[in-house]
Amino acid sequence: MAGDDQRQGGVDSGDRVEPPPSFVEQANVTDADVRARFEGDWPDCWAAAADLLDWETDYDAVLGGERPPFRWFDGGRLNACHNCVDRHLGDRKNQVALTWEGRLGESRTYSYLDLHREVNEFAAALRDLGVAEDDVVTLYMPVVPELVVAMLACARIGAPHSVVFAGFSADALATRMAAADSTYLVTCDGYYRRGAPVHQKNKADNAAIALDDDVEATVVVDRLGDDAPLGDDEYDYEDLVTEYRGATVDPVPRASTDQLFLIHTSGTTGEPTGVRHTTGGYLAHAAWTSRAVLDLEPEDTHWCSADIGWITGHTYTVYGPLAVGATTMLYEGTPDHPEKDRVWELIERNAVDVFYTAPTAVRAFMKWGEQYPEAHDLSSLRLLGTVGEPINPRAWKWYHEHIGGGDCPVVDTWWQTETGGMMVTTLPGVDTMKPGSAGPPLPGVDARVVDAAGDPVDPGETGFLVLTRPWPGMPLSMVEDDGWFADHDPARPDLSGFEWAYGTEDGATVDEDGYVTLLGRVDDVVNVSGRRFATMEIEAAIADVEGVAEAAVVSGPHDLKGRAIYAYVSAAEDAAEADLREDVADAVADAIGPVAEPDVVVFTPELPKTRSGKIMRRLLEAVASGEDLGDTSALRNPEVVGELESALADRDR
Ligand code: WT7
Repeated sequence: MAGDDQRQGGVDSGDRVEPPPSFVEQANVTDADVRARFEGDWPDCWAAAADLLDWETDYDAVLGGERPPFRWFDGGRLNACHNCVDRHLGDRKNQVALTWEGRLGESRTYSYLDLHREVNEFAAALRDLGVAEDDVVTLYMPVVPELVVAMLACARIGAPHSVVFAGFSADALATRMAAADSTYLVTCDGYYRRGAPVHQKNKADNAAIALDDDVEATVVVDRLGDDAPLGDDEYDYEDLVTEYRGATVDPVPRASTDQLFLIHTSGTTGEPTGVRHTTGGYLAHAAWTSRAVLDLEPEDTHWCSADIGWITGHTYTVYGPLAVGATTMLYEGTPDHPEKDRVWELIERNAVDVFYTAPTAVRAFMKWGEQYPEAHDLSSLRLLGTVGEPINPRAWKWYHEHIGGGDCPVVDTWWQTETGGMMVTTLPGVDTMKPGSAGPPLPGVDARVVDAAGDPVDPGETGFLVLTRPWPGMPLSMVEDDGWFADHDPARPDLSGFEWAYGTEDGATVDEDGYVTLLGRVDDVVNVSGRRFATMEIEAAIADVEGVAEAAVVSGPHDLKGRAIYAYVSAAEDAAEADLREDVADAVADAIGPVAEPDVVVFTPELPKTRSGKIMRRLLEAVASGEDLGDTSALRNPEVVGELESALADRDR
């Protein structure tokens, strides 16, 4: 499972690091009893999160329903855009809400007043284009301020947004629009990647063709500055906000359980799954964790380096920081362009207080060397965080020492697209940190590690991480549905002993102090660089290539990324390997996007199969990691194992 190989590396995993007194003195949460207090007052404890928001109508109950449907902040009505923008106008209208660093070295800032103005103008434009409450608007753009404006404009008029990662292909965009029944699109003409333009609008056009032109209106942000001609039902973003200059739109009050947005994630079926998040529960969870874990205050500048196309960007670039009235920083570029000190230069220039990134990035920084951060003044930093995959103790310590200067707590936050916000992490002003272990569940969160029978495992034993109580940021599917464990899968823990439970599909251990250490996914999903991909989706793309007979995709080790995508491909008799290699990469890029391209492709005459014809993935994973193969007696074709091992050893990387 993920990270095993990296958890060693000469660092004693029994290490403990106390939060520095200078941090604790000013922390938002310092109450050592906070977990006990929440426990004794559950679910009402979560009022602390809801109280961070402005409610148009007060809620009647913190949690309506002991069984699904769970209605967090039942009866309450609110608007997310009002909470992220309007309500800050009184105290801090001229404070920077959003600061953007573009790929070509440009920067732009928006005060809360500026953001309010543009969000209103764009909301008015969307309405006139025909967008009604509950219509899904698809947003397909890189990290530019207009993406945040569009998200907030949608929230203002009660139209759920569906952000599709800009690097996804036309096919992936079309699939997501069709699945969401979304007929409105906001995109851009293109953007720069490592100095070269990517023609985003072409991809959007191809998606529209795949959708039989069933797109009511497309708004195009001019990012390349080349004023490309627009077709019917296509509108220039800048022209629209100019046309609606000064327009205002009242924020539409939404029920707490009304949908705020939709985001797609990789599920086990191979089809992307739409996860729908609520307005009240989600926003309260985002705001509470932004304060309690990221320790954000309005005067802080926060930089979450995740792309807004992923849930991390939704919650900790957009909704969380803006809900608490902080300054959020957006960065469109890559960390090593133009130079490998880009991140540190930006932190220095913007005096960033809190930096939240992925372990894969930390490992890259570590490899590039400490001379890059050392060349910059990073003393503005107060707190560091990671998310997306396990962080090995060596990288944790490097981050703590070379970026945090030894006096910033590091929070290793575990959560998922489905949870909406953080679930397992230390509280930086309260808890001892243990490098390599995410920490205890958040106050009010019940996370347990159980065995196949659903019973708690002993400290240090491997089990499944399950969430055994609802939480405010839970998605609508869980809010509504009953019977999460109706069909018990024998490969999964039996959760029928719990009144309600959600299996996270992550393997984990827990220690005597209740600290959870994550071990990676237990399903057919690969987690690479903090992004989740379904192996089936990648396999389907590869299997479509002419000359490919069959393919199996698993995750395996990677020096830098931690985990990598390994594809085992069996080719048809007459296919040339060199050509296939390229075709495989292209097919995945077309079907999903370059982010999902396999890092390692191994050709094999046959895939290892059981007598019943099932591909033995466990074996392919073991081969990828160079581990002991275990029992191979169930194999029909045991000879292929040796062939795979030698192919992997010979491959050029
Ligand atoms: C999966 C969720 C939530 C934002 C990023 C990815 C893995 C997430 C950690 C962590 C170990 C982690 C899990 C989880 N994961 N955070 N701190 N330590 N693993 O969101 O695409 O929904 O993926 O990411 O495997 O299930 P996602």
